[in-house]
Amino acid sequence: MDRVGKQQSTVPKSAAIFGSTGGIGTALCRQLSDRGCETIYTGSRSQTAIGLPGEAPFAFDLTDEASIGAAAAMMKDNPPDWVIVATGVLTLESGKGPERTFKRLDGATMAKVFALNTIGPALIAKHILPLMPREKRFVFAAISARVGSISDNGLGGWHSYRASKAALNMLLKNFAIELQRTHKHGVVAGLHPGTVDSALSAPFQSNLPEGQLTEPHEAAGNLIDVLATLGPEDSGKVFDFAGKTVPA
Ligand SMILES: NC(=O)c1ccc[n+]([C@@H]2O[C@H](COP(=O)([O-])OP(=O)(O)OC[C@H]3O[C@@H](n4cnc5c(N)ncnc54)[C@H](OP(=O)(O)O)[C@@H]3O)[C@@H](O)[C@H]2O)c1
Repeated sequence: MDRVGKQQSTVPKSAAIFGSTGGIGTALCRQLSDRGCETIYTGSRSQTAIGLPGEAPFAFDLTDEASIGAAAAMMKDNPPDWVIVATGVLTLESGKGPERTFKRLDGATMAKVFALNTIGPALIAKHILPLMPREKRFVFAAISARVGSISDNGLGGWHSYRASKAALNMLLKNFAIELQRTHKHGVVAGLHPGTVDSALSAPFQSNLPEGQLTEPHEAAGNLIDVLATLGPEDSGKVFDFAGKTVPA
């Protein structure tokens, strides 16, 4: 379904961005602030502040559940209206890039990609969703990727990345179902930002068709516009930057 033009809410008063040091994460924080979001919890491994008004930097690591629990505890008395998980990896810090063939699969690399792209966001949901209000709209979104769609997969490759995003999408759907009974106004969604100029995409930009690379500022604006349109009937789905559903 196309969500364009179906405004459900304005920009939130408060938001938490996990991954505020990333290309898209930083742009999301800046855009939210520019649009009037008063409190922004900015989360990163280094607890780096962007320098926004009303910013509350916090430290967390996707592979350290205690740090995620501590972040949630810090937000407990003033929970954010929107939570966006903007973390993710395509190439690991070790330099291991996405696999093009099953012949190059390596268990440890796969486990790391799943730990960062699937398990980390799920643990954020575990600790953050209990803070969300039962009687009011909230948004919990995680940046996924169109390549996590099984039915839309025509190219193959990038095995661990694709599979980790497909698994993330499944978990988001599961969490949406679980919350339906108790949180009737809640929205849990995955997002596809388009191909965005960031550290993650930098090694893969050379063969892109003209005009396919989006600046982080524009991508963040698109994602915020999409989140503003989503209602509880959309919970559990993945939406692209134009508000179109990405098929499972
Ligand atoms: N860029 C694209 O074209 C594109 C396309 C489709 C989907 N996406 C998705 O969009 C999301 C954001 O990507 P991006 O392009 O903004 O990438 P990016 O600039 O590389 O940002 C990645 C973010 O993930 C964080 N991160 C990595 N490991 C972490 C850990 N162990 N604990 C906590 N944070 C960790 C990084 O934090 P540090 O600063 O601490 O490293 C950084 O904030 C990802 O989920 C990606 O898959 C991107």
